[in-house]
Amino acid sequence: MVRVTIVGGAGRVGRAIVEELGAQGKHEVILWTRRDPSDHQIPGVKTIQVSDYSHENLVKLLEGTHTVLAFFNPMSDPGSSNQLALIDAAVAAGVKRIAPSEWAGNVRSGIKMYAMKEPVLDHLEELNKDKKVIEWGLFQPGLLMDYLAHPCPPSKHFDTFPLLFDLENARAVVVEDGSSPVVFTASEDVAKVVARAIDYPEPWTIEGGIVGHRTSYKEIVEIAEKVTGRRFTVYSLKPEDLEKGEFKSPWVPAYAPNLSEETMRDVVVPFISGWAMGIHKGVADVRPVWNERFPDIQYQKVEEMLRGAWERIQAR
Ligand SMILES: NC(=O)c1ccc[n+]([C@@H]2O[C@H](COP(=O)([O-])OP(=O)(O)OC[C@H]3O[C@@H](n4cnc5c(N)ncnc54)[C@H](OP(=O)(O)O)[C@@H]3O)[C@@H](O)[C@H]2O)c1
Repeated sequence: MVRVTIVGGAGRVGRAIVEELGAQGKHEVILWTRRDPSDHQIPGVKTIQVSDYSHENLVKLLEGTHTVLAFFNPMSDPGSSNQLALIDAAVAAGVKRIAPSEWAGNVRSGIKMYAMKEPVLDHLEELNKDKKVIEWGLFQPGLLMDYLAHPCPPSKHFDTFPLLFDLENARAVVVEDGSSPVVFTASEDVAKVVARAIDYPEPWTIEGGIVGHRTSYKEIVEIAEKVTGRRFTVYSLKPEDLEKGEFKSPWVPAYAPNLSEETMRDVVVPFISGWAMGIHKGVADVRPVWNERFPDIQYQKVEEMLRGAWERIQAR
């Protein structure tokens, strides 16, 4: 048994991993939250409130920890300052392994939406430049498949938005013909991999792709038409328009309903265009690094995710 400290695991992506590790009961699982810990009680997990990110406090709290998993959202951690403080404290406290808050696709892909994560990678590389002071590795599941189930994802803790695909209203936005490869992995499957990775005897590697289902938006629409028996409307965008900041689709997928015109123009369009271009350029087409280490893990496929979501949508 080792101590695993999970920071920010009461949020969207970390929750499934915290629940899985807690349910397995093999390790001592400590969850850090800045909020009221009594709101985040999870079986098999000790939740503590941590809001003081001073070096001394973090080092004290991390003493005895074997593995740290970080789930900071880079948008709410300006300059990644708290995550960088966590990493430095982990080194000082003698933590063996850390997974920074990646949980995404290919790194250093030139895609703006992932650029915010790069200072953390730079810092870890710099720390180990002359001598390895901490083992670190990434978990890269591509896109989380739970988004395809919007608005009825499998877990109530994972709030979704229509990530270029809207099962309920039978529509999708693709770039060109939507055939670029994209990896989708269910957050439940990411949790199974991470739980096994804690016990993995070899050093973690920086590249850590997890491939649930390697598919394309074109194929996802075909699967959705089979599952729902409905014909989907597909809006096709041109990469050159997206590069110019033009999102020429009558449907603009937004991360929240009823946003103002300015928010749609200044925030939503650049955000969703970044995703569309990123997917088109293969940012979520990761290699099956962790799959090869644990070949017995079975992964959920898009059809199963959509069948579950369609049943939940119809039962509402
Ligand atoms: N591959 C994908 O499809 C995909 C989708 C979504 C997210 N992600 C990635 O997964 C990671 C986690 O994202 P998420 O959506 O789960 O994030 P989230 O729910 O917005 O935030 C996760 C937790 O991070 C903690 N946190 C945020 N800012 C912090 C700060 N400044 N200091 C300390 N703690 C802070 C918060 O915990 P407390 O409030 O409890 O303290 C929060 O609940 C990110 O790296 C994100 O890019 C990937």
